[in-house]
Amino acid sequence: MTKILFVCLGNICRSPMAEFVMKDLVERAGLAGTFSIASAATSSEEAGNPVYPPARRKLAEHGIQCAGKTSRQLRAEDYGKYDLLIGMDGRNLRNMERICGGDPEGKIHLLMDYTDRPGEVADPWYTGDFERAWQDILEGCEGLLAHLQDKARSAE
Ligand code: 4NP
Repeated sequence: MTKILFVCLGNICRSPMAEFVMKDLVERAGLAGTFSIASAATSSEEAGNPVYPPARRKLAEHGIQCAGKTSRQLRAEDYGKYDLLIGMDGRNLRNMERICGGDPEGKIHLLMDYTDRPGEVADPWYTGDFERAWQDILEGCEGLLAHLQDKARSAE
């Protein structure tokens, strides 16, 4: 079982989009049973709030549902519970390391580092551009899945 936690500032836009895109990709690859996928916020600001409507609509355009997801804050114990904790931007990474007390096992990474254009996911909270965020997140999740499948194959 590979356990992945996607993390952003509010857990209402980017990280829930990544959570439900990744769930859709692993399901379509026939691998849903071998993954546990969730998302969380570095901030408590949006705790309990549902996915932001424009993010929800962008997922729905692609046939992906996210009903029932509400924001919850990252906790130190998540570091032990997950194999990978994937942030969307550099500020997320700094906050994740602060909450988790560092990254002794090298589990914390940026989503776009699994693509050939490493860096940050375009933040739709500030750009209003949910299509661009969708493209970044889809590419990042596809790269992450390919990376994990390569790793699993080389371990066989
Ligand atoms: P997210 O988006 O981190 O992608 O969920 C944001 C949500 C809320 C805020 C910023 C970004 N905020 O400043 O309240």
